Amino acid sequence: LAATRAELGADCTRCKLHTQGRKQVVFGVGNPDADLMFVAEAPGADEDIQGIPFVGRAGQLLTKIIEAIGLKRDDVYIANVIKCRPPGNRNPEPDEVAECEGFLFRQIDSIKPKVIVALGTFAAKALLKTQDPISRLRGRIYEYRGAKLIPTFHPAFLLRSPDRKRDVWEDMKKVRSI
Ligand code: URA
Repeated sequence: LAATRAELGADCTRCKLHTQGRKQVVFGVGNPDADLMFVAEAPGADEDIQGIPFVGRAGQLLTKIIEAIGLKRDDVYIANVIKCRPPGNRNPEPDEVAECEGFLFRQIDSIKPKVIVALGTFAAKALLKTQDPISRLRGRIYEYRGAKLIPTFHPAFLLRSPDRKRDVWEDMKKVRSI
């Protein structure tokens, strides 16, 4: 993991996001031996400032979701498909994903989690290389790089649609049982 972080570098210029206002590269955070890894889309404004994934409002909800299955944030690993903030939180573009996703794959291959939770439609589609939306993808368990991949809704979506927390709880019970 440290070698991957070093190779990515703190001043990565591989994609155009380095010219679009990102403050820093947000590599990932947590336990390098985690059994459970969360993968989301890209850093937001708070993450860009602090250099740590999921530290804003959505992050506080993610922390609660982790604690709801009896774990702590420090027990898991949290990363994004792309490591720099897209301007205005637009979706990452295909060329940005293409340049960056290899670093996520190396994170996964080094941590070797038992379970990967893909947070939100963008992460689920990017990992599973499909155009199916999260509403179609969730509810099933996928084999992914030696892990069980469970797609669920993004915490930022839950902040807008709290009625879907029930679905996320169903997904997290599967995570806990594995
Ligand atoms: N949303 C994401 O997709 N990733 C973060 O790190 C924070 C918010």
